[in-house]
Amino acid sequence: MMVEIIEKVRRKETLTKKEIQDFLTGYLKGEVKDYQMSAFLMAICLNGLSLEEVLAFVECYIQSGKQLSFAQEDCLVDKHSTGGVGDKTTLIVVPIVAALGVPVIKMSGRGLGLTGGTIDKLESIPGYQVERSLEEIRKQVKDIGMVVCSATEDIAPLDKKTYALRDVTGTVSSIPLIAISIMSKKIAGGAKKFVFDMKYGEGALLETKEEVVALADLINKIAEHYHCKAEFVYSDMSKPLGYTVGNRLEVYEAMAVLKDNLKGELYDKCVHLASHMVALSKKISLEEAIKEVIEVLENKKAWEKFQAWIAYQKGDLEKMELAIEPIPYLAHKEGTLQKIHAKEIAMLAKQLGAGRDSLEDEINPSSGVVLLKKEGDFVKKNEKIAYLYTEKQTIPNMDSCFEIL
Ligand code: URA
Repeated sequence: MMVEIIEKVRRKETLTKKEIQDFLTGYLKGEVKDYQMSAFLMAICLNGLSLEEVLAFVECYIQSGKQLSFAQEDCLVDKHSTGGVGDKTTLIVVPIVAALGVPVIKMSGRGLGLTGGTIDKLESIPGYQVERSLEEIRKQVKDIGMVVCSATEDIAPLDKKTYALRDVTGTVSSIPLIAISIMSKKIAGGAKKFVFDMKYGEGALLETKEEVVALADLINKIAEHYHCKAEFVYSDMSKPLGYTVGNRLEVYEAMAVLKDNLKGELYDKCVHLASHMVALSKKISLEEAIKEVIEVLENKKAWEKFQAWIAYQKGDLEKMELAIEPIPYLAHKEGTLQKIHAKEIAMLAKQLGAGRDSLEDEINPSSGVVLLKKEGDFVKKNEKIAYLYTEKQTIPNMDSCFEIL
């Protein structure tokens, strides 16, 4: 029976809703084995799924766990990034939006492989509590209008089990599988309005803009089916976002944007994302939303909200310190800094102790890289171009991170 279902996908035949349900619930119960699921996922990777099949998958994933609901459902807005190196936008965007009276409940994950995780960044603040019960989430959103916590175990457990298998079977980068995975968690999480930061380029889940646009199109169709509203912002992630890669370093950079309005690509990206969220929630034009967003950055209301949020979740910014002597990295030649490769920088940061290969690995919250130059800058031979923060004894060679011409 299960073998027939796998064979149908291999022959590009359409599965019925019942076949999808039987296969997926069988997998959750352990009746369908990992090797059968692996073959099934690979056949989907190669042959795709129809929209009807995708919707049947999403429904099964949602039904596999709890579905949350919140009193603020109508104006609640969620943000999702498909993963970027140095992407600390959640730390900035959520307090901006909450300072404008738009409630946000953001459930995030830990970093694995080359991707950084918001939860690791927040845990680098001494005392910050990432675990929140449903009751605590409801109270916090009522009290301060925002929560950022780790995803509860019981949301779309089928995705959790399948994602772990996809990770080790080369079946992550399939447009239907990514859309199903993201949207089942979003819809079960209780928001009805979403802004997606869709990343493409070297090191992203999908390399080309065309693929990412196709993913956005499918996400949008799933959102419409569930009467949800989704908006999309596209970002090239072939270079890191901002100046820092590494958990505590990224918190400091986020604070510099909120407190000192540090301008640059990161500031612009956050204004863009926050404005889409505000426009969507308040049903105002993007131009009006941009004005409101810049105002709460300039009058420091967003910075105050950030501090209130961190304190509410028991984080102590006063106790946060790097406590590592930075090691300067010097340019290996003179010329224009043509390219800063995100993927190489992420690999480097991981080697310095900022990332992990498996979820059990320990990370050093202070480790990472601070970039002192941006693409297009002219650099002299032996000029400082980065600082490395690490307690590791051997410093990896970083020349491949920077293309100097
Ligand atoms: N993020 C997810 O949550 N799921 C995917 O499949 C890919 C990225």
